[in-house]
Amino acid sequence: MKIAIFGVGGFIGSNLVEHLVEEGVHEVVGMDVTNSKLAGIEGANFKYIEGNVGSDVTTAEELTEWADAVVDLIAYANPSIYVEAPLDVVQLNFFENMKILDYCLKYQTRLIQYSTSEVYGKRTRDEEYVEDSSDLVMGPVTKQRWIYAASKQLLERIIHGHGLRGDLDYSVIRPFNFVGPRFDYLVPAGAKGGPRVFSHFVSALITGGPIHLVDGGGQHRCFTHIKDASEAFSTILEHPAAHNQIFNIGNPDTNITMRGLAEMMGGIYTELTGKAPSNEIIEISGEDFYGKGYEDMDRVPPNVDKLRALGWTPKRDLDNIFREAIAFYLEPERHASIV
Ligand code: NAD
Ligand code: UGA
Repeated sequence: MKIAIFGVGGFIGSNLVEHLVEEGVHEVVGMDVTNSKLAGIEGANFKYIEGNVGSDVTTAEELTEWADAVVDLIAYANPSIYVEAPLDVVQLNFFENMKILDYCLKYQTRLIQYSTSEVYGKRTRDEEYVEDSSDLVMGPVTKQRWIYAASKQLLERIIHGHGLRGDLDYSVIRPFNFVGPRFDYLVPAGAKGGPRVFSHFVSALITGGPIHLVDGGGQHRCFTHIKDASEAFSTILEHPAAHNQIFNIGNPDTNITMRGLAEMMGGIYTELTGKAPSNEIIEISGEDFYGKGYEDMDRVPPNVDKLRALGWTPKRDLDNIFREAIAFYLEPERHASIV
């Protein structure tokens, strides 16, 4: 199959390319404004094109025409960006993604759209999130976090509408906190906002700076190993029953609080380096850490029965997920951004 990946240079994209190069089955061309995370990932079946889907429209369109399947990974994905720049988020995560959808409609190319677990929104019931039956509950407009979820939700609804009309072959993926090598970026000691939680905690362990627990650190997340996530992608790409369907990709067995995560990562760091961490733990409000308009979810529990029914299951546990990701960032050549 010929696969075009938009946003190939990011965390999920670079790991997906590594997986597809290893498989060596499909021909892959990826487009992004940056390829720094693709360093060292090479294969006869992969080609990178530098470009911006917003301005290099001819290239993006030609790539869609060439492909049998388009994978759309383009988005701002960090909560700090939703809080600081909500209009940039809706421009990229909705309007630029709509252009890719339009190319897919024009050339009748299958679309595999990365959405988010955040479309499930605020937690108003004690249950796992199920793709085709759970309600999607958005918070107030004054909490900018929801512009991300609302942009992705509207995109999903439009994609589904085209599926119903019969003019689009699609699969929508809702990722639940993927973690692995090349995740986000390291930050200097004491930094606030910026990347997602793993990057903050690993940066603190490396620099000796404080670990911030936002709003007490009692929030839960279920983390997913990026290799489990890439394998799930292949199932969705190849299984005949995955067409015109929405799938959670997550791991229900890795639920942990952020306080528990900080402790667990500290333990793995000690085992890997022989050094016991002595980071100060600072409790901080969401608004002080991210800015006014931040809101959090206390739990984000995936139900993955739908994807299990197609033969996929998550195989890697919490220790596995974080050991590999921490080891990646312990390599000194990756510390340039924090010194
Ligand atoms: P990422 O930020 O690492 O990757 C996004 C990539 O898109 C970046 O490399 C960026 O340079 C590229 N990009 C942005 N604008 C572009 C443009 N105009 N033209 C070309 N390239 C552009 O994010 P990620 O973690 O890899 O996430 C990928 C997708 O998955 C996003 O849609 C995100 O919302 C979704 N998602 C990810 C997670 C997760 O656990 N990582 C969870 C939920 C949803
Ligand atoms: C993130 C992204 O924003 C979404 O794009 C994505 O859908 C989602 O992950 C996902 O991967 O499914 P979130 O789960 O809130 O959303 O991710 P983080 O920013 O990593 O935050 C996780 C938790 O850690 C939050 O409760 C946050 O307040 C907390 N946190 C973060 C800390 O306690 N300390 C920190 O230093 C950073």
